[in-house]
Amino acid sequence: MHVNEKLLFLNSWLRNPWQVGAMMPSGRALAERIAQQIDPRGGPVIELGPGTGSFTRAMLARGLPERRLALIETDPAFARLLRARYPAARLYAMDAAQLSQVGPLFGDERAGAVVSGLPLLSLPAGKAMAILQAVFESQLHPEGTFIQFSYGFRFPVPPATMRALGLEVSRRGLVVANLPPAFIYAVRRRCEPYRGRVPERHLRRPLRRLPFGGLIGSQLRHDDAERRRDARAPYSPPQNSIR
Ligand SMILES: C[S@@+](CC[C@H](N)C(=O)[O-])C[C@H]1O[C@@H](n2cnc3c(N)ncnc32)[C@H](O)[C@@H]1O
Repeated sequence: MHVNEKLLFLNSWLRNPWQVGAMMPSGRALAERIAQQIDPRGGPVIELGPGTGSFTRAMLARGLPERRLALIETDPAFARLLRARYPAARLYAMDAAQLSQVGPLFGDERAGAVVSGLPLLSLPAGKAMAILQAVFESQLHPEGTFIQFSYGFRFPVPPATMRALGLEVSRRGLVVANLPPAFIYAVRRRCEPYRGRVPERHLRRPLRRLPFGGLIGSQLRHDDAERRRDARAPYSPPQNSIR
């Protein structure tokens, strides 16, 4: 990985720590384990929050054709780098929470996998839910898998919320050779969708309290900053009743 890439990452983190969620890009060991979760000859792949492209590189090295990849990145500096480096991939410089508004990215062919580098721990719960809903309702094949890494021992979204969304989580392993070590999670649709409601309190609070005030993995809680921003441009969480 180039020094320039690390500097770009650090610079983006300094400007927007809660959105970037880590001071450095993921290491090669984590990227390779993430890439092993996808079938390069299966359906197209959507990557959320590719940053400087650690996972992108590993998935392409595994044989995924570049044109079968869509990259969703909200940071303009990362988006510029990705557009220059992966011209055949579909680059969407936007917030992943808007995925439901753009329609299926690969038309009738739904994605076989969605790979997420998003800092789910530091996103407001409503936004994390909007992203999961959009992915499963409008992008992912019914048999497809959502792959997420997290520094936490538990998946960042509470089990009750996942049940309400009709989703189930399994852990796919721990990558110790990453700084900090990271767990890989796979999310799939449950066979029987839960027909309940997401508890109101889950929409208001941050997803999880982070150890040592969020210093570990430098994934910061940003509820206060987000609230201040919301005061200017209110963010509407998805409807509370989930199919
Ligand atoms: C922890 S970094 C991971 C970057 C890269 N996947 C890696 O592992 O090195 C999180 C990335 O998600 C992006 N991101 C955060 N919120 C986002 C959102 N709502 N929509 C799209 N990208 C987002 C950030 O800009 C950043 O590139």
